[in-house]
Amino acid sequence: MACATSNLSSYITVLLLFGNVGFLTPTSCHIHGDGNATMFVFGDSFFDPGNNNYLNVSLSEKANFWPYGETFFKPASGRFSDGRLIPDFIALHANLPMWAPFLQPGGLEFNINGANFASGGSGALRETNPGTLSLEMQLNAFTLIVSSLKETVGDAEAEKILAQAVYLYSTGNNDIGQFLTFHPYNATQLQKQMFTDTVIGNLTEVLKEVYEIGGSKFAFQTVTPIACLPIVRQDYNLSGNECAEMPHVMTTLFNTALYEMAEDLETQLPGFKYSIFDFYNQVMDRINYPSKYGFKVVNDACCGSGVYHGVNCGLGIYELCNNTSEYLFFDGSHQTEHAYSQLAELWWNGTSTTTAPYTLKQLFELDSAIEISFNDFGALSDE
Ligand SMILES: *[C@@H]1O[C@H](CO)[C@@H](O)[C@H](O)[C@H]1NC(C)=O
Ligand SMILES: *[C@@H]1O[C@H](CO)[C@@H](O)[C@H](O)[C@H]1NC(C)=O
Ligand SMILES: *[C@@H]1O[C@H](CO)[C@@H](O)[C@H](O)[C@H]1NC(C)=O
Ligand SMILES: *[C@@H]1O[C@H](CO)[C@@H](O)[C@H](O)[C@H]1NC(C)=O
Ligand SMILES: *[C@@H]1O[C@H](CO)[C@@H](O)[C@H](O)[C@H]1NC(C)=O
Ligand SMILES: *[C@@H]1O[C@H](CO)[C@@H](O)[C@H](O)[C@H]1NC(C)=O
Ligand SMILES: *[C@@H]1O[C@H](CO)[C@@H](O)[C@H](O)[C@H]1NC(C)=O
Ligand SMILES: *[C@@H]1O[C@H](CO)[C@@H](O)[C@H](O)[C@H]1NC(C)=O
Repeated sequence: MACATSNLSSYITVLLLFGNVGFLTPTSCHIHGDGNATMFVFGDSFFDPGNNNYLNVSLSEKANFWPYGETFFKPASGRFSDGRLIPDFIALHANLPMWAPFLQPGGLEFNINGANFASGGSGALRETNPGTLSLEMQLNAFTLIVSSLKETVGDAEAEKILAQAVYLYSTGNNDIGQFLTFHPYNATQLQKQMFTDTVIGNLTEVLKEVYEIGGSKFAFQTVTPIACLPIVRQDYNLSGNECAEMPHVMTTLFNTALYEMAEDLETQLPGFKYSIFDFYNQVMDRINYPSKYGFKVVNDACCGSGVYHGVNCGLGIYELCNNTSEYLFFDGSHQTEHAYSQLAELWWNGTSTTTAPYTLKQLFELDSAIEISFNDFGALSDE
């Protein structure tokens, strides 16, 4: 199979059926790119640069139509915002080119700057929104690109690139969303805890796999304040500035577990370094103190229908605001480019109350490869 495969549907079928597709190792790839930093992006609609354009998913899981992209891309790229997302701004700070969806024709060709596998609607659990690319499927795509990298530059050079690369994650949001459709108001303490453990467990498995392949620099953003999203406030029939109770409980559980997971991995895996960006509290702070950050409207979305314009941006009958930069939310779930540019800068070089233990800038600059032997993972895989 050629590197730049054009038969996407069969490629996706292969991903679904076989997982680690060693026999499909691309043979004719070229390295391109001029930067020196490498980043691999995994996750959901907060990071998707348009992978869902190539998937058979519902229109509510796509954003490749107007007015998505109205501020920057024109026409819409498939990003869930009026413009660029956090990974796009990180790329700007790190001197990387703008992300393209890895599913676009030619996207499987290894690019020295990395790749973006994120898929809107997806989660860490494979049963979250089937049809989107679960974290596991994104990992399988990553292993394909790693094979192509090794064939092109050789194992030693590939190990260096993989160890220096930053692996960026946004996940959990849609898993929690799915849980809430079954338990909008109530669940037992056991159900809540087991669910959180399952999502974190699946995320941990993917991270360990990436680590075994050679990754060492990981970066996570906490889940968004689901309880206060326009789409959720609308669904729960809330008024004023109210946020929903159960979503609040679930996001708090998840974010606490995410910090614990990262600390555990740091002690278990030699050389594992990470950055967690407190996306949740940064969004909450903008909801609580809009003018401090230059926003005028934070409890209503710029684009959509319903009391808080929570759904159907760009679909059927909907309203669109006049000035996106006054809004925190572009649609019922996602921020405007104005907000993402602020948030990305905080992840890049914010203070330790927001971004810890490393900022992304520090993570990129860390020299990681030194003490890690990538040939000695027997002990880990026997765990
Ligand atoms: C896309 O998904 C829909 C609904 O799941 C299904 O009915 C349809 O056959 C699928 N189309 C393709 C081309 O796979
Ligand atoms: C890229 O390389 C240049 C020159 O060696 C260096 O100054 C810069 O910090 C590097 N950028 C990153 C993101 O590593
Ligand atoms: C919520 O769950 C608790 C414990 O299972 C139960 O006692 C309570 O009645 C439930 N509340 C509602 C509103 O369902
Ligand atoms: C991963 O998720 C599945 C459900 O999709 C669950 O059965 C399994 O136990 C989870 N794995 C871990 C390690 O938590
Ligand atoms: C919101 O109100 C609608 C209409 O009364 C109702 O069908 C729906 O169940 C309510 N949503 C929730 C989460 O209670
Ligand atoms: C946008 O501006 C026009 C003209 O000033 C005004 O009539 C309209 O109400 C505004 N729309 C919104 C959603 O604010
Ligand atoms: C949009 O809002 C921003 C922030 O309030 C303001 O600086 C800008 O001038 C506005 N643009 C227009 C066209 O009104
Ligand atoms: C953070 O990075 C941005 C973008 O590179 C830069 O403009 C800003 O001055 C930096 N802030 C600090 C505190 O270093």
